[in-house]
Amino acid sequence: MIFDTHAHYDDESFDSDRDELLGSMPEKGVKFIVNVGSDIKSLSKTLELSENYSFIYAALGVHPSETAELKEEDITWIEEKSVNPKVVAIGEIGLDYYWKEPDRDIQKKWFERQLCLASKVKLPVIIHSRDAAQDTLDILKNWQAHKTKGVIHCFSYTKEIAREYLDMDYYIGIGGVLTFKNARKLKEAVEYIPMNRILLETDCPYLAPEPYRGKRNQSDYIAFVAQKLSEIKKLTREEVLWQVMKNAQDFYEIS
Ligand code: NI
Repeated sequence: MIFDTHAHYDDESFDSDRDELLGSMPEKGVKFIVNVGSDIKSLSKTLELSENYSFIYAALGVHPSETAELKEEDITWIEEKSVNPKVVAIGEIGLDYYWKEPDRDIQKKWFERQLCLASKVKLPVIIHSRDAAQDTLDILKNWQAHKTKGVIHCFSYTKEIAREYLDMDYYIGIGGVLTFKNARKLKEAVEYIPMNRILLETDCPYLAPEPYRGKRNQSDYIAFVAQKLSEIKKLTREEVLWQVMKNAQDFYEIS
C-alpha cells in the first residue's frame, strides 16, 4: 500500500481527468494522499479535495515563491482552517533561492511567520528548501525546530546536510529523482538516511520517476521509487512500503 506524502492534485494539469484519476487511486494500491498547498488559491482547492475524498488529507501553507503578495490576514485564514481534522500539516513553506523573486528577506519573513503558526496550531511542517541549505538550517535551528515535527520535502542536498536535519529529528522526503540516472548525490544521502526517517512523495504533477520521467506524475508511481529504495537499502519492496507507510502515519498522525 502506498502513502503519497506530498501531492498537488489541485494543479491545472489534472483539470481534464482529476476525478477519474483520484477515483482510481484505491484500486491502484494508494491508501493515503496528502495534498499540499502552494498559493492561497490552491488552499481552497486542497480543502475541497480533502472533503470529497476520504483518503485525501490537506496541508495548508504558502510556498516561498508565492509570498510576494502574502498578507497577515491570509495567515489568519490558514489558522482558522487548520482546526479542520483533515488538515494535517502546515506547508509547503520555506526558502527558494533558485529564483531571484521574491526577495530573500520577504521569503524569510513569511517562512518564520508560518513556522510560528505551525507551533501555535501544533501541526508538523513541510519544508521546501532549494539552493538555500544554510539559511533554512539557521532559521529552523533559531526557531527551535523540535517544537513541531518536520519534513524536508524533495530533499536535494548532501549527506552532510541530511545529517543536520536528522539531528533535529526531521524526516526526509524522497521522490522520483531517486530513480534518475544522474542522482548520485541523492543516492549517497539516501544510503545514509535511516529507513525510519524517510517519507516517500510524488510532488505530482512534477518529478515523475523512471520510466515516466518528464511525464505527468501520479501517486501510484511511488512504487518505482520504493523499488529503487529497496535496491539501495537491500530490502524487499514490501518491507520498504511497510516502513514508509508507518513513518508517514506517525508523521501526520493518521491511523
Ligand atoms: Ni511540492
